[in-house]
Amino acid sequence: MADFVSSFWNGYVMVLVALSLAFCLLILVTNMGKGAKKGAKPELHGHVWDETLTEYNNPLPQWWMYLFWITVIFSIVYLVVYPGFGNVKGVSGWSSAGQYEAEMAKADEKYSPIFKKYAAMELNAVAADPEAKAMGQRLFLTYCAQCHGADMRGAKGFPNLTDSDWLYGGEAETIKATILGGRQGVMPSFGPALGGDGVEDVANYVRSLSGLAHDSLRAQRGKETFEQNCVACHGADATGMTAIGAPNLTDKVWLYGSSKETIMETINGGRNNKMPSFEAFLGNDKVHLLAAYVYGVSTPAK
Ligand code: HEC
Ligand code: HEC
Repeated sequence: MADFVSSFWNGYVMVLVALSLAFCLLILVTNMGKGAKKGAKPELHGHVWDETLTEYNNPLPQWWMYLFWITVIFSIVYLVVYPGFGNVKGVSGWSSAGQYEAEMAKADEKYSPIFKKYAAMELNAVAADPEAKAMGQRLFLTYCAQCHGADMRGAKGFPNLTDSDWLYGGEAETIKATILGGRQGVMPSFGPALGGDGVEDVANYVRSLSGLAHDSLRAQRGKETFEQNCVACHGADATGMTAIGAPNLTDKVWLYGSSKETIMETINGGRNNKMPSFEAFLGNDKVHLLAAYVYGVSTPAK
């Protein structure tokens, strides 16, 4: 209820709840002792439905009436004890958020010494520890798998974290910086500047860099375009630049795909890709464990 900015809705909910309860009570009270008297023969009601359907004026069964009373009384007791009646908190002081926080605090108390222990260790040492690895994997499955996949191999636009190819760098400390601060990869759109033909030329050149089938005349022209427009970020040798997350275009690893169509789509429209920052959400200690885990998986111990 605290989510409502004005008190109007609290009042609205209170009135609705009070009216519903009053209505139930009214029905109960007015129906007590209605219907045929004990011992008397039940009589037919006057009305008929569906041509032949009629009804006796038998009283409602006692057990049903009691059950109805019990539910009404239960709901009143519930609303006194627990939150539910508008913004009234209830005498027990219980709230779902409070319960969640209490459980989290308990879990933190239990686990934070373990996280602290690893946070004090070098990332390389943590990466080699089997218990830390198991914890890191659980954290990864909870917080990272939805984007990078349970097997860490990523998907289109989401980098594979198990290989040795890195947008931002695969050193343990760099991986930690990526997770703590997040990253934003921005490839500008070149469609307007290069035109359809220009884009196709440079796409052919990009494909030639990793030995994929290409039109050599177009690639020749594309090489010039590349030198004028792309080397600032992807480097003179097209092997990328980790400072801004510009991918290596000479290896066989693709963030978006190697088909000519996909490469043209990237150059034409640009890309804007975001790895969220986890510093505020998970805190340094958990990120430390995660970074060690990712580092350990991608860089097997020598
Ligand atoms: C909402 C989706 C999303 C989630 C959740 C997510 N990531 Fe990412 N991550 C990305 C994207 C997208 C990129 C690539 C950013 C770019 O292209 O610049 C990325 C990049 C990275 C990189 C850099 C890879 C490289 O090649 O340099 C690392 C490391 C990483 N993520 C680890 C993690 C970890 C660990 C978690 C869990 C705490 C996580 N990510 C959660 C989307 C996500
Ligand atoms: C301002 C820096 C910058 C410039 C200039 C730039 N790029 Fe990029 N490029 C990037 C970044 C950063 C990414 C990664 C985008 C992401 O993380 O989603 C990228 C991604 C790509 C990809 C996708 C690679 C893959 O693995 O799927 C291709 C292809 C590409 N660029 C080609 C080019 C070409 C061709 C040019 C010149 C016409 C160019 N880029 C100019 C920064 C740049």
